[in-house]
Amino acid sequence: MSVSTQTQFSTTWRCPSNIALVKYWGKYGNQLPCNSSISLTLSNSYTEVTLELTQKATQDTVELAYFFEGKPNEKFEKRVKQFIENNQNYFADLMNYGIRIQSHNSFPHSAGIASSASAFGAISLALLEASYRLNQQELDAEFYEKASELARLGSGSASRSMFASYAMWGENEKVPHSTNQKAIQVNQIHPQFQSFCDTILIVEDEPKKVSSSVGHALMNNHPYAANRFEQANQRTAQMIEILKQGEMDAFIQITESEALTLHAMMMTSGDYYLLMKPGTIEIIEKVFEFRNATNLPVCFTLDAGPNIHLLYPESIETEVHQFIQTTLKPHFKSLIHDKIGNGPVCLSLVCS
Ligand code: PMV
Repeated sequence: MSVSTQTQFSTTWRCPSNIALVKYWGKYGNQLPCNSSISLTLSNSYTEVTLELTQKATQDTVELAYFFEGKPNEKFEKRVKQFIENNQNYFADLMNYGIRIQSHNSFPHSAGIASSASAFGAISLALLEASYRLNQQELDAEFYEKASELARLGSGSASRSMFASYAMWGENEKVPHSTNQKAIQVNQIHPQFQSFCDTILIVEDEPKKVSSSVGHALMNNHPYAANRFEQANQRTAQMIEILKQGEMDAFIQITESEALTLHAMMMTSGDYYLLMKPGTIEIIEKVFEFRNATNLPVCFTLDAGPNIHLLYPESIETEVHQFIQTTLKPHFKSLIHDKIGNGPVCLSLVCS
């Protein structure tokens, strides 16, 4: 197909967020991770992006109009424009067009959930698909790998949102085909871990005081950096085995320790800071007590923020929901029931 400015193209992608079990914290070079990480792909927390190619009105290399929830969003437009400019080699033929992106999240803007993984995931899928279609290429497995690499350049954790159920990212000598460039799917999952739930308890919905980029940078001169990177690599390899063998106790132990270790890194960096809130600690204590009392396999993890992700198998959903309502409710503002998901989907495509 010759690339004419008359070409009509529009595509809509839904890309889920993900929650890391072993955390990526520290980066170098062009968005490369200092250690490998592994995550669970979510289902209900996602970003939807509609990308249209329009006739170009200016000589700019990148002509972008970006709308979030129906309104122009200058701040994100600037970030996405920079991302497109820096990575135009992935979709060079799109530079003949104006690009219009409309985006919205399934979760409220004030939920305190980092949306960069799902947003850069969806944007990357849409840009890459446009380029594939203009070149009459079909979307194959390689497409998702390429999208993972591209998404990584926007937000590291976005690289892991391209795959169903569990994904790992980062070179690890114990994991064949692992690479810093893109994430890969973790394939052998024991039935214990196939129907997993994540209830996100929103303890605080204010924007974070310290961004993830600043947090990553603080790992550069961190006194514990070398040990931490080594530990995370070992745990990533262990977690892959745990997911394969269905070892619930080991899963809980690594997942919770990872959450606390991530926050320990923040608390022990040169410019130390604290993102946990009193509600975060209250909930963690209550999860320990509940697990001790009931022996039910529910555990927590944290992102770079105060909100709790409660992880548990679907088989104990009723008991956990009851625990949330009776015991945890005073300590959070709102919640989102999420679960393991199938990765991104293309919702519509117009190409003529
Ligand atoms: O993708 P970034 O740069 O927003 O970093 C994400 C870091 C954590 O969410 C804290 C951990 C992770 O692996 O997702």
